[in-house]
Amino acid sequence: AHVVTESCILCKYTDCVTVCPVDCFHEGPNFLVIDPLECIDCTLCVAECPVDAIYLDADLPNGMEEYPELNTQLAKTWPVLIQKKPALADAETWGKVRDKRIYLVT
Ligand code: SF4
Ligand code: F3S
Repeated sequence: AHVVTESCILCKYTDCVTVCPVDCFHEGPNFLVIDPLECIDCTLCVAECPVDAIYLDADLPNGMEEYPELNTQLAKTWPVLIQKKPALADAETWGKVRDKRIYLVT
């Protein structure tokens, strides 16, 4: 399955949700996740994300090993999002910041 990784935190551009054919994105306060059980690996969302947050779980960047489990767990309680909405206020600034895991609000 595909999963959302750290770059999304505090950005949440939501371009990804508009292309998903199975509506498997779920929204939290400052992050989005994919429900890996619903994702059909169409890859359409990957190119939509302005901060390159989405990866195939078998092809994760170093340091992102925790994200498949985070996506699985958070997708169970966060609501589905299917329509694009405005990015978070400081998305442009946060898009350039690394090590944002500590800011994730669940
Ligand atoms: Fe949805 Fe396709 Fe992205 Fe999976 S890879 S989350 S099915 S758009
Ligand atoms: Fe997050 Fe990128 Fe989607 S920032 S909300 S994964 S477009």
